[in-house]
Amino acid sequence: MAKLLIIYHSQSGNTEAMAQAVYEGALLAEATVSLKKAAEATSNDLIDCDAVAFGTPNYFSYMAGAMKDFFDRSLHAVRGKVGNKPYSAVGSHGGGGRQALDTIDRICHSLKLKKVFDDVIATGKPSPEVLEECKELGRKLAQL
Ligand SMILES: Cc1cc2nc3c(=O)[nH]c(=O)nc-3n(C[C@H](O)[C@H](O)[C@H](O)COP(=O)(O)O)c2cc1C
Repeated sequence: MAKLLIIYHSQSGNTEAMAQAVYEGALLAEATVSLKKAAEATSNDLIDCDAVAFGTPNYFSYMAGAMKDFFDRSLHAVRGKVGNKPYSAVGSHGGGGRQALDTIDRICHSLKLKKVFDDVIATGKPSPEVLEECKELGRKLAQL
């Protein structure tokens, strides 16, 4: 694996901690990895990476607006250029479960990205066990 990209949004730090753990896991696997806030990520970031992890909280039963904005800004540039690119997702919710991650899956399906590992989901602040799962996810994505 050459390059892993992690794109995330987080307002109160829960999803950020998960994205950071994915990053740390990938570093342990000696990958080239970049961790980007969704507001700062570009279509070229997605085109240039070999695998991607998305991190989003559940806001109003959907992905965070900044994450949706990333996809909105990137659609035309990435369409046809990211087919079969491996992805997984992580995120925190307040009780609504995987609604936000389902919305990530819908967009990724339409872009023809390929889901490779199960999502990691936390309720509120991620526990140490959940953060370990995120690290493991980063390690696995880095070793594809
Ligand atoms: C604007 C807003 C809307 C939210 N809507 C939902 C929701 O519809 N369902 C849910 O389970 N949690 C909802 N939450 C709770 C967050 O998903 C939860 O606090 C999460 O841990 C926040 O992650 P973050 O620290 O990465 O921002 C909402 C939080 C905010 C700030």
